[in-house]
Amino acid sequence: MTQTPRLHNSDQLRHFYGEAHRLCPTPNTELSLVLSLEREIDLIELEALCDAVGWSRRPLRRVRKALEHSLLQVGLWRHDERLPKLVGFARCTGDGVVDATVWDLAVHPLYQGAGLGKQIMLFVIEQLRDMGVDRVSLFADPEVVGFYEAQGWQLEPLQRRCAFWYAP
Ligand SMILES: CC(C)(COP(=O)(O)OP(=O)(O)OC[C@H]1O[C@@H](n2cnc3c(N)ncnc32)[C@H](O)[C@@H]1OP(=O)(O)O)[C@@H](O)C(=O)NCCC(=O)NCCS
Repeated sequence: MTQTPRLHNSDQLRHFYGEAHRLCPTPNTELSLVLSLEREIDLIELEALCDAVGWSRRPLRRVRKALEHSLLQVGLWRHDERLPKLVGFARCTGDGVVDATVWDLAVHPLYQGAGLGKQIMLFVIEQLRDMGVDRVSLFADPEVVGFYEAQGWQLEPLQRRCAFWYAP
């Protein structure tokens, strides 16, 4: 009798998500959720994820270029042998040595509240630390400031610095 390969077969996961993949523990043991730096992000799927969290759309060709120029991009995938589904995302820009900035952290609403946003951030920070990046920044919407603060992020202390926006 042949046995169906286990979903957590590490060769299979490596095939789908690359060497640097990481399984995310979740309360739902039926799900296999995997973080990957290497699995290619499908732009339509990313757009659907951004739609789901209520972000306004950006032209896909600009998104493609933004991803190409990012320092790293992390996909969180719901593993499925036939078609893995993108359920979370984050990317960073930066010089890869001194500074990096985290952008576009999103977890699909159906998967929120299970610690996945936190795990994406921990994974991102770990990758940046491995690169030797000294300083990481991000711009948070007011309603998620508490999410970052709980993970040790500090609002610019003492207001010694200000964030400026300039649209050329
Ligand atoms: C913000 C977001 C990424 C959080 O993802 P998530 O998977 O739901 O968060 P987690 O389950 O990992 O939460 C980790 C902790 O942060 C807390 N938390 C989650 N969202 C929070 C919020 N908006 N404000 C304060 N705390 C929050 C959780 O209660 C949890 O606390 P615990 O560790 O004490 O249990 C997700 O809600 C999201 O995608 N939102 C829409 C897009 C967005 O706003 N992105 C941020 C752009 S700056």
